[in-house]
Amino acid sequence: MREAFRRVHGADPEGIWAAPGRVNLIGEHTDYNDGFALPIALPQRTLVAARRRQDGRLRLHSAQGGGPVLDLHIDRLTAGAVTTWGAYPAGVVWALREAGHPVGGADLHIDSTVPTGAGLSSSAALECAVAFACNDLYDLGLDAPALALIAQRAENGFAGVPCGAMDQLASACCAQGAALHLDLRAGTHEQIPFAPEAQGMSLLAVDTRVKHDLGDGAYARLRAGCEHAARLLGVAALRDLGPEDLPHAAEVLPSALVPLVRHVVTENARVSRAVTHLRAGRVTSLGPILTDGHTSLRDDFRISCAESDLVVDTALAHGAHGARMTGGGFGGSVIVLAEEDRVDWIGEAVTTAFRKAGHRDPHLLPVSPAAGARRVG
Ligand code: GLA
Repeated sequence: MREAFRRVHGADPEGIWAAPGRVNLIGEHTDYNDGFALPIALPQRTLVAARRRQDGRLRLHSAQGGGPVLDLHIDRLTAGAVTTWGAYPAGVVWALREAGHPVGGADLHIDSTVPTGAGLSSSAALECAVAFACNDLYDLGLDAPALALIAQRAENGFAGVPCGAMDQLASACCAQGAALHLDLRAGTHEQIPFAPEAQGMSLLAVDTRVKHDLGDGAYARLRAGCEHAARLLGVAALRDLGPEDLPHAAEVLPSALVPLVRHVVTENARVSRAVTHLRAGRVTSLGPILTDGHTSLRDDFRISCAESDLVVDTALAHGAHGARMTGGGFGGSVIVLAEEDRVDWIGEAVTTAFRKAGHRDPHLLPVSPAAGARRVG
């Protein structure tokens, strides 16, 4: 990173920061409903080498972006003005300044092992790495959750994606060997020890390579549907409903909204069941919860796709404890929980099934709960 930074920016960086991608174990489309989620951070992460500048310029370079240095000025950052990958780092500087934090210019060099477009939160990783870098370089004194919310603001207000806060909180606050139990209304989180390998188990992320694009309007429509349902039911957010409220909801809501509510309510309950099992060290009991979560996303939220369903069905048919699509939906990745000695076999079976169905080979990524964002150099 230091050498690449010197080549691009002609001087040494002041430091290097890292932030991971994430998979969510359970609790999907609950974050913007004030609910609960249970993500882990991935070993795959984004690195940012950075140095302050005194002239207000923000000079961005990415090993993956391929192009020349993107040369911006912090006083001229406006929402929607940057439409490439640069929107994420620039958006973080914009969001910090919007919130009144004294951030000046910077040179950044970025490199990442988080696959993009795979539903593994490469954008949150990039935002969080930059937010942590700015926090240290400009001595802002913000803690990890506050930086995550700045990163979310960058994505909502600058990049124009109406996401919740789960991805950024996962990237900023996760700890190695733990899943992060998020309460999105209370704004609190708790580390739940989670070491599948200690019980002979593995997690496999399968990137279906179906392009997942939260910006295409579908995510915003789902979110609006949930918020509309909450208003019609007279609650602040769907988080305020329990399973006992579902019969009433089914009576009074337009029929298109009923399955959305059912998913959110049952999904929040699944998070709480998953946390109970993990606290008791029952990792295998997580399996059926994952699979139920997938069924709910497929049938009620209707955001799965043929490729994700094929991964889930194939993994289960080959002895996985559970599997589900993870992230925003419409493709992206599936997370599989299985005995360690079955994982390779399951991966091969999924690849064979994809070939038979005429899909591109999926990408297989073994994952384990890794650390959240921090300074690494
Ligand atoms: C995307 C969003 C998150 C969350 C998930 C679904 O990853 O960025 O805020 O809503 O979808 O759980």
